[in-house]
Amino acid sequence: MRKLLITIDGPAGAGKTTVSKALADRLEYNYIDTGALYRGVAFEARARGIALDDDAGLEGMCQSLGLRFIRDAAGVRLYSGIVDISGHIRSPEMSMMASAVSARPAVRRALLDVQRRLGAEKAAVFEGRDMGTVVFPEADLKFFLTADLSVRALRRHRELEEKQSPQKLLDVKKDMERRDQNDSSRKEAPLRPADDAIMVDSTSLSVDQIVERMLDCVKKKIAGADN
Ligand code: DC
Repeated sequence: MRKLLITIDGPAGAGKTTVSKALADRLEYNYIDTGALYRGVAFEARARGIALDDDAGLEGMCQSLGLRFIRDAAGVRLYSGIVDISGHIRSPEMSMMASAVSARPAVRRALLDVQRRLGAEKAAVFEGRDMGTVVFPEADLKFFLTADLSVRALRRHRELEEKQSPQKLLDVKKDMERRDQNDSSRKEAPLRPADDAIMVDSTSLSVDQIVERMLDCVKKKIAGADN
C-alpha cells in the first residue's frame, strides 16, 4: 500500500501528540514530535549558557548538536549526543524557552534539514507548527488541529498534574495564550494552517473520534491515488 507523509499542525494543547501517536500506531507509521527538537535546542542553550536571542551562539551550537530520536520500550526518547534528555524538556519553563528559541531563524534553518531527513522515507506522522506550510509543503495529507483555549488549558493542566509538575490552571492558560501569540506572530514559519490543510476542531471530540476521522481521510487519499 502507498505510504503517506502526514502532517498535524496546531496550537499547544490541541491534542496533537495524543492524536499523532494514535494515528501513527494505527497505520504502523513513524511518529515524529518536532516540538521536542525545539525543546532540545532550548535545553542545550540553557545548559551551555547561551542566551535565547544570541543568534550567533545558537547557530554555532546547532551545528554541533546531535539531537536524535531513539525508540525503546518506554516509547520514543530524545537524545542529545549520548544523553537521554526526554525527562527534562517538558516543564512549563522549557515550553516557553522552546517557543522563544523557535522564533530564531538560525535555529529553524538548522532543524529544517533534520526534519526533512526524518521524512525522507515517508510512512510518518509529523506533528508541529509549520509541518504543512514550510517543512513538508508537499505532504500527502495535512491536518490542522485546534480546540478552544479553555479546553486546551484544562488538558495541559491535567497532563502536568499527572507528570507531578502541577501548575495553576490560570497560569497554564496565560502561558498557553502567550505561547500561541509568540508562535503565530513570529516572522519565520508562523503557526498557521496550510491552504490545503483539513481543519479539525477537537473541542468536543474524543481522541478515537478524531483518529477515525483522520483514518477515513487516509483511506480516501490512498484510494484516490490508486485510481
Ligand atoms: O509542540 P510543542 O509544544 O512541544 O512545541 C514547543 C515549541 O516549539 C512551540 O511553542 C513552538 C515550537 N515549535 C515550532 O516552532 N515549530 C514546530 N514545528 C514545533 C514546535
